[in-house]
Amino acid sequence: MGESGNDPRNTLSIRDNRTGRNYEVAVHEGDVIRAMDLRQIRVNDDDFGMMAYDPAFTNTASTRSTVTEIDGDRGILRYRGYPIEQLAENSNFLEVAYLLLRGELPTADELAEFTHHITFHTYIHENITKLLNGFRYDAHAMGIMISSVGALSTFYPEAKDVHDPDNRWIQMIRLVAKMPTLAAFAYRHHRGLPYVYPENQLSYAGNFLNMLYRIGVKEYPIDPRLERALDILFILHADHEQNCSTTTMRVIGSAHADPYSALAGSMAALYGPLHGGANEAVLRMLNEIGSVDNIPAFMESIRKGERRLMGFGHRVYKSYDPRASIIKKTAHEVFEVTGKNPLLDIALELERIALGEEYFVKRNLYPNVDFYSGLIYQAMGFPVEMFPVLFAIPRTVGWLAQWEEMLQDGEQKIARPRQIYVGAGARDFVPVENR
Ligand code: CMC
Repeated sequence: MGESGNDPRNTLSIRDNRTGRNYEVAVHEGDVIRAMDLRQIRVNDDDFGMMAYDPAFTNTASTRSTVTEIDGDRGILRYRGYPIEQLAENSNFLEVAYLLLRGELPTADELAEFTHHITFHTYIHENITKLLNGFRYDAHAMGIMISSVGALSTFYPEAKDVHDPDNRWIQMIRLVAKMPTLAAFAYRHHRGLPYVYPENQLSYAGNFLNMLYRIGVKEYPIDPRLERALDILFILHADHEQNCSTTTMRVIGSAHADPYSALAGSMAALYGPLHGGANEAVLRMLNEIGSVDNIPAFMESIRKGERRLMGFGHRVYKSYDPRASIIKKTAHEVFEVTGKNPLLDIALELERIALGEEYFVKRNLYPNVDFYSGLIYQAMGFPVEMFPVLFAIPRTVGWLAQWEEMLQDGEQKIARPRQIYVGAGARDFVPVENR
């Protein structure tokens, strides 16, 4: 953390009115104090010392990071300094993956080598398919993914050596390469279709589409516009700093678990409807509304606080989500190929009403990345169960970049928050017959 030096202006004076004592606490870059500096504040020597109480970590930085910068008030998202708009416009997912994992954009040679490695590692051990076959026909794809990514750790026991940078790099390549294969296999299992194995000459997104949709033909005709749209969606979802699933990755990783096990945990966090499950929830909501005529009654239930408008609001973005603007444009490009998603009219009308309504304006609620992504995925033929999976594939890169950073950060140790115990005081056990 950038030290404030000895400049007395870069300190916070705290007076403890319980004791009358005064304390000086250093203020670091970005208006930050170290929570541990509060521990010196105590009423008597037996005291634990002062703590900050911050449920859901809404005002606590758990790390210093160089990966992703978000300025929620100004609607800014940058990976390693590069604006998301420029990356979505000019780059491709594997180049962005390299940027996030390695810190710099690759040279042409580095990109070619990285792309080769990713392509080379797309196959999964055949026994994983046996594991997949054990799932019920209607198993949710995300449940299958969480289990199979966790299972991969048993196929690569050397991944436990998280202190060897070369070993970490190999596991990162494996994970980025195998996620589309696992996802496509989960989908084919659900549909009762035979698995289509990876084709190394295809692009990352193209190979994924081929594994998902090829049936009865030697070559699945991949529309380059849809391939590019999926690549853009992957770029937009690649990282988003210390969100719920990334924090999970860091927390599990802080115990030095192997990256497959840690990533299975991140995926479980992403599965929740308030996080990666939101685009699925958006589609269910749009289907439930059913027609533009039903919107007024639906909006009334939101205003009454009975439910939430899924795909709106964000913990960090308070003016707009820059990913939502790019995705809205991509949606129109996809609909030119697939035809308009009939739910689009409902979504546009909800957005129009919400952007002009006091309830939403007052609470800074704007469409987030998930408001339109579900419509695109549905138009491209993905069932809703695949939506969080489509989030998890690119986010694997972000999770791994943050995991790598955490392991190299000398200030990090095993994550272990404090609690304020408010339960019963000491009491004697009562045998069951006396209760
Ligand atoms: N619809 C209606 N009201 C909302 C919504 C919403 N989507 N989101 C927040 N509010 C209200 C909330 O009721 C509260 O009102 P009041 O002050 O009257 O109690 C106020 O806005 C603040 O809400 P909050 O829950 O304190 O805000 P948060 O920062 O904890 O929540 C959120 C962030 C994303 C969980 C929330 O906005 C939400 O549940 N949105 C819907 C789910 C969603 O779209 N999630 C995807 C997030 S983007 C993907 C990602 O990056 O993971």
